[in-house]
Amino acid sequence: MLELKTEMAEKFVSAKDYNAALESAKSALKVLLSGQGRGGKMNGWLTLPKDDNSKLIADCQMIANRWINVMDVVVIVGIGGSFLGAKCALEAFSHSFASAGERNAPHIVFAGYSLSEDYMSDLLGYLKKKSYGLIVISKSGTTLESALAFRILRKQMIDRFGVEDTRRRIITVTDQSNGALRAMSEKYGYVSLSLPGNVGGRYSVLSAVGLLPIAVAGFNIETFMGGAAEAMNHVLEISDDNPALRYAALRNLMYRSGKKIEVFINYHPKLKYLGEWLKQLFAESEGKEHKGLFPATLDLTTDLHSVGQYIQDGERIMFETAILAGSKEVEVIIPSSSDNLDGLDYLKGWTLENINRAAEEGTRMAHTSGGVPNIYIELEKIDEWNMGMLFYFFEVSCAVSAYMLGVNPFDQPAVEVYKNNLYKLLGRPSK
Ligand code: PA5
Repeated sequence: MLELKTEMAEKFVSAKDYNAALESAKSALKVLLSGQGRGGKMNGWLTLPKDDNSKLIADCQMIANRWINVMDVVVIVGIGGSFLGAKCALEAFSHSFASAGERNAPHIVFAGYSLSEDYMSDLLGYLKKKSYGLIVISKSGTTLESALAFRILRKQMIDRFGVEDTRRRIITVTDQSNGALRAMSEKYGYVSLSLPGNVGGRYSVLSAVGLLPIAVAGFNIETFMGGAAEAMNHVLEISDDNPALRYAALRNLMYRSGKKIEVFINYHPKLKYLGEWLKQLFAESEGKEHKGLFPATLDLTTDLHSVGQYIQDGERIMFETAILAGSKEVEVIIPSSSDNLDGLDYLKGWTLENINRAAEEGTRMAHTSGGVPNIYIELEKIDEWNMGMLFYFFEVSCAVSAYMLGVNPFDQPAVEVYKNNLYKLLGRPSK
């Protein structure tokens, strides 16, 4: 199981307050498990790792096997919860410099997560000479960004491959019975996987929404779900040792003591999108009724050279949650140099991993001494098992945290405000 280390945050709170918060986290977990809390009927994601997933895994695997030798590129179309989990997982698992054709799997690219014309026209150009497939993911089937991307990409596909071949090149993941994408899948005969009605977008990475892209990219979804099931063994227990409860208790205390921002930190470029996934999970689950911590991200050590000054010495409004991970088995060792002109000979023989670790420890000491509490989470390494575990850990921590705040973890009513304005500006006919 992942390790949660809290001593550099606990020293900012009293034992009495911590114990009280832990009790409140236990009550919140009971509410979550009972399904009786606000939005409680949307807790279908809780059991996903241990549900009977054999058919879903077999379907994803079958599609992956069918596509792996036929498609140069697979475009995943989706936004928000229908995008960030898969994007995060694929960035984490992939070789940093893998490009099309180097692995025995299609090159995976994403679309429908912005309205950028530049991006879309580049993508259309890139696909022109490629054999490609589309995986369209949208629970509602009506989200403007992804629906528009699908319409544009589908048109290019039909023009190039014809209607019949296009039918075999499109797979949808959508609500089991509702929405435009479900209707289109039925009308045009697209293979379609279902997202259960009681699983919301940002809690859906352990459903077909995450599993299909991960399988098509050639990664092991059984191991991924195994990691999540391992987390499930630990984070649903009503106990003082439950890491999800300890984490939820501490972040709630941080909020109540006046902190406004939780900064999620990584030390590996491959984990950049973990930060993006976390931002959505926490912001949409907690940021309501004028409450909630604002989730921000830092990529370290990169950002120590940009916002490090502020963290160390600006407004004391944040605490940090760092996600640390062991490196690969292949070591990169600092070589010796004949002239030592760069003055780095004192590091010869060190591995980059050890230097990264030293940077992490030094940063934690500096920031805590500057009044920024630090929680950290240690993964053995970045792979399917550990990421499955991490996703589930954060989902439970987040839902418990939202219940501790007294808000519904599973809705996002305020997102409608921007959508309605946009629709008005675009002249959408009223329904
Ligand atoms: O968490 C959520 O429910 C949202 O962020 C959605 O995932 C996002 O708006 C995309 O919605 P859909 O999957 O319906 O296209």
